[in-house]
Amino acid sequence: MNRITLSGIGVEIPAATITNEELVASFNSWVDAENERRALAGLEPPLAKSDSDFITHASGVRSRHVYEREGILDPTRMTPRIPPRPDEELSVEAEFGLAAARRALDHAGLEGGDIDMVICAASHQQRPYPALAIEIQNAIGARGAGFDMNLGCSSAAAALHVATGLVRSGAQRRVLIVTPEIITGHLNFRDRQTHFIFGDAAVAMVVERLEPDETRPGRFELLDTRSWTQFSNSIRTNFGFLLRSGQENTSVIEMEGNMIKQVGNRVFKEVTVAGHRFIVDFLADHDLTPHDVRRFWLHQANARMNAMILKLAFGKDVGQDRAPMVLDRLGNTAAAGAIVALKEHHEDMRRGDLGLICAFGAGYSIGAALLRMM
Ligand code: COA
Repeated sequence: MNRITLSGIGVEIPAATITNEELVASFNSWVDAENERRALAGLEPPLAKSDSDFITHASGVRSRHVYEREGILDPTRMTPRIPPRPDEELSVEAEFGLAAARRALDHAGLEGGDIDMVICAASHQQRPYPALAIEIQNAIGARGAGFDMNLGCSSAAAALHVATGLVRSGAQRRVLIVTPEIITGHLNFRDRQTHFIFGDAAVAMVVERLEPDETRPGRFELLDTRSWTQFSNSIRTNFGFLLRSGQENTSVIEMEGNMIKQVGNRVFKEVTVAGHRFIVDFLADHDLTPHDVRRFWLHQANARMNAMILKLAFGKDVGQDRAPMVLDRLGNTAAAGAIVALKEHHEDMRRGDLGLICAFGAGYSIGAALLRMM
């Protein structure tokens, strides 16, 4: 079985930002207009307003970067304005992923032609086919094959699990994982429970074979990966190809009710317990405890949730140095979040230090990768 390195990590954060205050002002102005309409129509009860202090306290999110700001804050639209492109042009999501992919290749000191498999793993794919991974494979000039996969916010961690297996067994030599998350395109900015949660980001990683005695200072050896799932409807989207067939008017797709929905407090409780158990068990299988791990790059969904998972694991509060957060300025960037935290917080690690990527989300799903600095 081959040894493996995570030799390249690339991140692309879009420039545009939206603060909680801006988001809440737009939401509340829509609520005012909607409540007037509802009162005239005799609809009860009136809709409740959103609140930026609640958002900061409940989630830890203060601001988010978005792929396209225009349209999101317009109370008559509340959806980013991302024009369709001709089929001959690079698609929006492939282009976003490509920016991160090029950085990951640079970081690994590789070119597109060195890659023999591309996996595009994200919580939202722009289309079912042709696979975005194949479009990215074509754009970078990679060999071999590409395919898309989706495991909600655990998509990148699950792709690491797949890529690690393929490289370890010798089936592939170098796999490029690309995770472009344009989650604002599928977020219901009129839903008070979820409108504040997400932001956009793309990440990419190169997983490649190491020679038996090879060491690459400043890069991680990928020691092991694991994926876990258990069915739950608590985070769900019903958007998909059968929507049209279920409607009388087949010329308009009904979006309301078919975007991201989440029972946030249930997810919080259930995934905190499952996440803690998963981490402790995964480490125990390597004769490790959380104390042996220098750094945790956890899923960036909720600051309080991560603090609680770590408190259960360590028996005390642990801070940013042990488990850095990027959520406050980026929001929940779905499967990209833990990898952004990894990219921004690993250069101070010493040879031999262990680190754990652990992402969790819809499914439910949890995925992890155990790394050691070479
Ligand atoms: N502004 C003001 N009040 C709000 C609000 C908003 N935007 N959204 C909800 N509230 C209200 C609720 O209506 C509720 O009011 P009530 O007590 O009168 O019923 C109250 O705030 C508490 O709501 P709750 O949903 O229990 O809040 P919470 O503390 O659980 O925080 C989340 C909500 C979404 C931030 C949190 O549950 C969470 O992050 N969950 C985990 C999500 C996750 O990990 N997902 C997986 C990865 S995608």
